[in-house]
Amino acid sequence: TGYITYDPGFVNTGAASSAITYIDGDAGILRYRGYPIEQLAERSTFVEVSYLLIHGELPNKQQLEDFTSKINRHTLLHEDLKRFFDGFPRDAHPMPVLSSAVSALSTFYQDALDPFDKSNVDLSTVRLLAKVPTIAAYAYKKSIGQPFLYPDNSLGLVENFLRMTFGLPAEPYEIDPVMAKALDQLFILHADHEQNCSTSTVRLVGSSEANLFASISAGVMALFGPLHGGANSAVLDMLEGIKADGGNVDRFVERVKNKEPGVRLMGFGHRVYKNYDPRAKIIKKTADEILSKIGGNDELLDIAKRLEERALSDDYFVERKLYPNVDFYTGLIYRAMGFPTQFFTVLFALGRLPGWIAHWREMIEDPETKIGRPRQIYTGAKERDYKPLSER
Ligand code: CMC
Repeated sequence: TGYITYDPGFVNTGAASSAITYIDGDAGILRYRGYPIEQLAERSTFVEVSYLLIHGELPNKQQLEDFTSKINRHTLLHEDLKRFFDGFPRDAHPMPVLSSAVSALSTFYQDALDPFDKSNVDLSTVRLLAKVPTIAAYAYKKSIGQPFLYPDNSLGLVENFLRMTFGLPAEPYEIDPVMAKALDQLFILHADHEQNCSTSTVRLVGSSEANLFASISAGVMALFGPLHGGANSAVLDMLEGIKADGGNVDRFVERVKNKEPGVRLMGFGHRVYKNYDPRAKIIKKTADEILSKIGGNDELLDIAKRLEERALSDDYFVERKLYPNVDFYTGLIYRAMGFPTQFFTVLFALGRLPGWIAHWREMIEDPETKIGRPRQIYTGAKERDYKPLSER
């Protein structure tokens, strides 16, 4: 009670203290645990970055081996959980399938859900990191009617995921190292972004002491929306739309500036970055490299580049400090790799998973955590008397 701060969208509310990720949105700086994103993207691996985010330090050789072998040992899904996929329609969007399956994990591991038992939390952490790529691959296989492949634990996390996604039981699947490296880098770039919508969701759900699986499944659904993770699919749809309109970038930009309902320049703008998103810089370079190596749709890349150039020189975008964000170029890369558009947001979820886990763990260990419970400004009716149905 007393004075309530009105802050829709929590634009100015610090809801947690956190030691995980640092962003300076004006300068375009992003660091995980103090390490610049550029160095991690260039030199680290996704598994190593996951360890860093979750445990606070880069692993030494032994720690990395232990962590990797634990993840490898948990990639299998319970056979009953595999049957779960049968219940969805064939054209089911893979994001709700992923969220439901993650939620279902809490029914398979009911004896290890205590959020305050450190060894339970470590086990759930490893189970999630190991099983979510398998779930994601099965959601894809289900959508195209192909059989599920068992994980091959001699492979690395990204390689295993690619094989389960694109491989077939009767044929050896040759992993393209260029593609695997690029995907690993994209996962690093998506791995955390402090209090974004899905991470705040994970923390809020977890603040009620709901278990890790339950909290992460809610985070997946928050990521689903087009203003958040869904933007990577929306960018591709937008580029296709422009292509169908003869590649007319100007016409599209005018529609954005006229604020036609539902028309935004997808992949542009960010709540925190008022400068070029440092992740987008790295991804733009990767897009150029990877598309020339594995072949992509040059026409869409060309439209994206013209669109970016056009927007960056237009007062509307300049005044509002709207720059390309992480999602502007990712879709083009994912598509060149062979992923269908509606699967792009699942790839974002795979990358963001260690960040969600790190935040949930930080939240649960923080003695200052209280259940998340925002207040409101009531704008409804004043007190009035109930009327019987005959008088309404
Ligand atoms: N296209 C056109 N106008 C925009 C855009 C855009 N992409 N983004 C912001 N604006 C305008 C907005 O209309 C507003 O103008 P005005 O002051 O005239 O009303 C002004 O810029 C400020 O925008 P806002 O909506 O108040 O900003 P926000 O911080 O609430 O929203 C955002 C941030 C990311 C939701 C928004 O920029 C957006 O919708 N972008 C497109 C979707 C997108 O690419 N999302 C991915 C974000 S990065 C990855 C992730 O975290 O998921």
